[in-house]
Amino acid sequence: MKAYVLNKTGGVENLVLSEIEPPDPKADEVLVEIKAISINPVDVKTRAAREVLDMIVGTEPPVILGWDIAGKVTAVGDKITQFVPGDSVFGMVNFPGEGRAYAEYVAAPGDQLAKIPADTSFEDAAATTLAAMIALQVLQSRVKQDDRVLIHAGSGGVGHFAIQIAKHLGAYVVSTSSAKNRDFVMALGADKHIDYQQHKFEEVVSGMDFVLDTMGADVLKNSLKVVKDGGKIVSLPSPEFPQEVKPYAQKRNIDVSFVLVESNGSDMNTLKDMLEAGVLKPHISKIFPFEELAEAHLQLETGRTVGKVIVKL
Ligand SMILES: NC(=O)c1ccc[n+]([C@@H]2O[C@H](COP(=O)([O-])OP(=O)(O)OC[C@H]3O[C@@H](n4cnc5c(N)ncnc54)[C@H](OP(=O)(O)O)[C@@H]3O)[C@@H](O)[C@H]2O)c1
Repeated sequence: MKAYVLNKTGGVENLVLSEIEPPDPKADEVLVEIKAISINPVDVKTRAAREVLDMIVGTEPPVILGWDIAGKVTAVGDKITQFVPGDSVFGMVNFPGEGRAYAEYVAAPGDQLAKIPADTSFEDAAATTLAAMIALQVLQSRVKQDDRVLIHAGSGGVGHFAIQIAKHLGAYVVSTSSAKNRDFVMALGADKHIDYQQHKFEEVVSGMDFVLDTMGADVLKNSLKVVKDGGKIVSLPSPEFPQEVKPYAQKRNIDVSFVLVESNGSDMNTLKDMLEAGVLKPHISKIFPFEELAEAHLQLETGRTVGKVIVKL
């Protein structure tokens, strides 16, 4: 089968399209013929930097990156009872770990997958994986009815799902993006938009119960100013915070934490239910053919992607 092998970290030229043996599913695994893959900033960071590859993938190169898949089951291991060949499935496979999803086939743990709803395309299903999963894993335990919530980068992969989930939980949602994405962010259900290029968000909002920080650094520092005493911030880009963040947060009893998304079949089934119920609508801004996977990485590297970018096989 064809797969992109990464022999060393660096530029996109290190993603080498190669011919390798297809995987054999273990007893608790499902062999999936991949139809669509979604690309995230973490795909770019693990490809580019050895320390991120070590932290997320945890094995020496050569490795096969990629975690977010949608496809058709072609074989199942002996212990698999919930899927049969022919089922359409989606999931975020082996995260953190080596996902091995930049390939025509992947052997995926059965308990990390869900069936794709009947009316959902492979592309939309592949889009509703890591970015939707982190939004769900962060928000479902921290946000409740009538909370005031600030979501940074509401037009991005994570942000566009986070707005929809926070609204579903009954929150009042403020979100940032540049002016060109204002209408998109408002159409997702946000109650208020802040154009971060024209306004300092910390001068526009205050008294927030919860902030989802998708930017880190100064955005994290300034987010502390808009959270009420006893409020919460989850920062996604890095576990390393600027040094003044923790002492300041402690003084005001603000809970600031980094959360790393984790593969979880129960959460995948919640995402499936949300797709079926129309609670979640993924937005795909660009689809690349498998042969142009490197272009998809370059698109993510711009930091200006709207919604999700998909690679189609
Ligand atoms: N810890 C975890 O488990 C986890 C999971 C998922 C993602 N993450 C991290 O979370 C971050 C966001 O991920 P993502 O997938 O949402 O990225 P993304 O899709 O690449 O985000 C792009 C969006 O960011 C917006 N943006 C850029 N600069 C901004 C700013 N200063 N203020 C507000 N919006 C801004 C852009 O809108 P405009 O074009 O309008 O500026 C664009 O729509 C990344 O660092 C990623 O690695 C972590």
